[in-house]
Amino acid sequence: MKNTNVKPAEGKLGILCVGLGAVSSTFITGVLMIRKGLGKPVGSITQLAKIRVGKGDDAAYKSISEIVSMPSLDDVVLGAWDIIPDNAFESSMKAEVLRDRDIYPVKEELEKITPMKGVYDPDYVKALDGTWTKDTKATRWELTRQVREDIQRFKQENGCDRVVVVWAASTEIYIPRDSEVHDSIETFEAAMKADDRSHISPSMCYAYAAIAEGAPFIMGAPNTCIDIPAMWQFAEKENVPIAGKDFKTGQTMMKTVLAAAFRTRMLGVNGWFSTNILGNRDGLVLDVPENFKTKEVSKLGVIDTILKGDEYPDLYSDIFHKVRINYYPPRNDDKEGWDNIDIFGWMGYPMQIKVDFLCRDSILAAPLLLDLALFGDLALRAGKSGIQTWLSFYLKSPMHDDGHCPVNDLFQQYTILKNAIREMGGYEADEEID
Ligand SMILES: NC(=O)c1ccc[n+]([C@@H]2O[C@H](COP(=O)([O-])OP(=O)(O)OC[C@H]3O[C@@H](n4cnc5c(N)ncnc54)[C@H](O)[C@@H]3O)[C@@H](O)[C@H]2O)c1
Repeated sequence: MKNTNVKPAEGKLGILCVGLGAVSSTFITGVLMIRKGLGKPVGSITQLAKIRVGKGDDAAYKSISEIVSMPSLDDVVLGAWDIIPDNAFESSMKAEVLRDRDIYPVKEELEKITPMKGVYDPDYVKALDGTWTKDTKATRWELTRQVREDIQRFKQENGCDRVVVVWAASTEIYIPRDSEVHDSIETFEAAMKADDRSHISPSMCYAYAAIAEGAPFIMGAPNTCIDIPAMWQFAEKENVPIAGKDFKTGQTMMKTVLAAAFRTRMLGVNGWFSTNILGNRDGLVLDVPENFKTKEVSKLGVIDTILKGDEYPDLYSDIFHKVRINYYPPRNDDKEGWDNIDIFGWMGYPMQIKVDFLCRDSILAAPLLLDLALFGDLALRAGKSGIQTWLSFYLKSPMHDDGHCPVNDLFQQYTILKNAIREMGGYEADEEID
């Protein structure tokens, strides 16, 4: 490994998940099983991918930890908050994502991971009944202080050098950005102190607390949270990296590959209808229209920036794009996502493509959570702060610097990710063909 300015990944890294539901418990159980040599980290770039560094005769393919200092999974300490008291074993069993034989070998370790009480506001997740919560009457400011204390205590009790906080809790109701509150740290803090509950969501309390504690914050759901100027300014001021939002797992990952293929081949698109059936708790929450609205906004944005209707009006100016999620309990976490894409070719002749992705939501999300947490920590050690656009690869609705267009094409995003790692590893960024 070259000498770089990245601080070495020494000591323990705490990964604190907000929400200990299907995604987090699948992630945590997987990490513990992999540590024991009883599972493989399939889907994880940090654990499996090899990236080319150097060009021509100097080219070499190296794993990420050979390019930059990365923590071993043995040095990771796992923790969580939830508004339900189930420990990680109970949560894993209830989620029914993993088979018993992939949970029981780490039962004792899982049972020790009990959630800290969550910041709960029933108005933000109407389908759930939180029973393991911090005082719901406390102001947003006070709750943020309590989350900061939780982080400090977790760090101290577990001997962690660094902590990353990842939101993998339920999707909150849609709240639009309000420039009078969300556009500066001062107005944002004033709203927290005034307990302005309609503008300050529970997720914002966790994000603000994490940043204040110097912990990178990753937003895995589509909530309005860190995608506001107040958070960007705060993260820059505190020198903390942030990334979001919404894990790019099944349908949207496919979308950002297919849309890029159509644009590359100059094939037109008339319509894109995406629907899903999903029966887990996430599906239950998303069945509430105000919560679905948050997801819909996140899912709808992706194809426009790839197809660029303004640049190619003959091909993409009039696309009918619709996304639906239907709660259907028999399928539990085994989501089925259908896409019907109406495309057209030479002389405008129509064609159709049907995609039927029988996926497992949490199986796809768990490696993303791991990579985002480890890369969030890498960004911190590399002295990066604010929005980490190089992590857009993992996100459905990536944040971008004001005035810039987000990159949604999965392969362009991968190039950006690889170049960031090359640079942090002391190599030159490039666009050679791999
Ligand atoms: N699995 C995927 O493919 C995928 C992709 C993108 C985004 N997501 C998002 O990830 C999130 C987690 O998904 P999941 O399937 O694990 O859902 P889940 O319902 O199984 O788990 C969410 C957990 O969050 C808890 N929670 C809710 N509000 C909380 C709060 N304020 N503080 C602490 N805990 C709280 C709930 O009690 C629950 O245990 C959802 O928002 C989902 O939309 C998932």
